[in-house]
Amino acid sequence: MTVMMNAVELLQKYIDPNTELYPIVYTHSRSVADKVLSIAVSHPEWSLDPAFLEEAALLHDIGVFLTKADEIRCFGIYPYICHGYLGREILDKEGYPKHGLVCERHTGTGLTLSEILNRDLPLPHRDLSPVSLEEQLICFADKFFSKTRLNQESTPSEVRSKLEKYGNEGLKRFDVWCERFL
Ligand SMILES: [Fe+2]
Repeated sequence: MTVMMNAVELLQKYIDPNTELYPIVYTHSRSVADKVLSIAVSHPEWSLDPAFLEEAALLHDIGVFLTKADEIRCFGIYPYICHGYLGREILDKEGYPKHGLVCERHTGTGLTLSEILNRDLPLPHRDLSPVSLEEQLICFADKFFSKTRLNQESTPSEVRSKLEKYGNEGLKRFDVWCERFL
């Protein structure tokens, strides 16, 4: 049986709408969802499920409130980079494991196990790269919207220059996605 999800209600269960954080996460996630849906609409041959894409895009950052990132009003204890797998833990617990994978696989252009080990990142030692087309698409669209400059979409070259500092692997993945998604 397919369980209908109310993604906004679920987001608000974890991030109080009366906080300063909520409109930051919601506005950012709405922008990501809109970009994802517009790309999906122009590729009907992929037969992606728009309901899943929208829900997963709205929830991909649900774990941020557990991290410490003062500039976006997050006052938790974990390093910011942990918000993906923390979000997955929340969505697993809520019974949405497929949405949870989108959370844990959206950091940067995805992190391979060797990148996690080489950079000594405080993350679980497993591959955190997006696998399904839906996971790749949400990870890609996320790169165009910062949480500190809301409602402003970056250009692909602005995204590239931000990714540059994390090395060539991520840049190559982004370039492949530009070919596929734009
Ligand atoms: Fe995001």
